[in-house]
Amino acid sequence: MAKPVQKIVILTGAGISAESGIRTFRASDGLWEDHRIEDVATPEGFEADPELVHEFYNMRRAASSAAQPNAAHIALARLAADPRYEVLIVTQNVDDLHERGGSQNVIHMHGSLYGALCHACGARWPAPEVMQASTPCPECGQRATRPDIVWFGEMPYRMDEIWTALRAADLFVSIGTSGNVYPAAGFVQDASRAGVATLELNLDPSSGTSRFDESRHGPATELVPDWVDKLLA
Ligand code: APR
Repeated sequence: MAKPVQKIVILTGAGISAESGIRTFRASDGLWEDHRIEDVATPEGFEADPELVHEFYNMRRAASSAAQPNAAHIALARLAADPRYEVLIVTQNVDDLHERGGSQNVIHMHGSLYGALCHACGARWPAPEVMQASTPCPECGQRATRPDIVWFGEMPYRMDEIWTALRAADLFVSIGTSGNVYPAAGFVQDASRAGVATLELNLDPSSGTSRFDESRHGPATELVPDWVDKLLA
């Protein structure tokens, strides 16, 4: 009899895109490109200075668009293409390197640089490369356009779907995340409680390393293709 399809939920963070040239968050004293996190990644920061917030995300969008998917993104797409595995990628990243690396089943739980959101009515539409707060919303007409990014104090997207997939998985893998931001940082415990095997692939031990059944440390472009190659062998 054929073996049942193995369900794998993969959480990714800034570390998987680091070798594509996109900077991780916690590398620099709580400052992002010299901005305080409160100023550029909270609803209050946006309300106080929308143009500063747009300048910051326009810069991040340009960096993301100029970057190329690396061997880790591409390896995950190879895994998902194999009929023996059912793969869901849940990413905290707002770049589109998983999609450009060939992955299709991707949830952007912290939103995307390529989406626009009306801060007044919640309408969503595709983002232009350079966004401005003064662009009128196509639905309500108000000038409160913001990037469709989940900021501190806001609820990440599609959580029910993620928790359901996590509990039904055979394996949970966390790649390139420091384990500091909830709810993603709690996925390893949610998975363990449901009897799901857990694996961490990260440059150095994350805050949650001890909670994983197994942790491997090194660069994502080495660890991820090695892990995928073994599953596909
Ligand atoms: N390969 C693997 N892991 C790496 C690499 C690499 N080449 N480079 C860095 N890392 C690891 C770091 O060791 C760190 O543990 O990636 C992790 C990145 O951590 P953070 O910068 O904290 O990023 P992340 O965990 O994705 O942040 C979560 O916090 O700031 C908010 O909303 C933002 O989505 C973000 C969330």
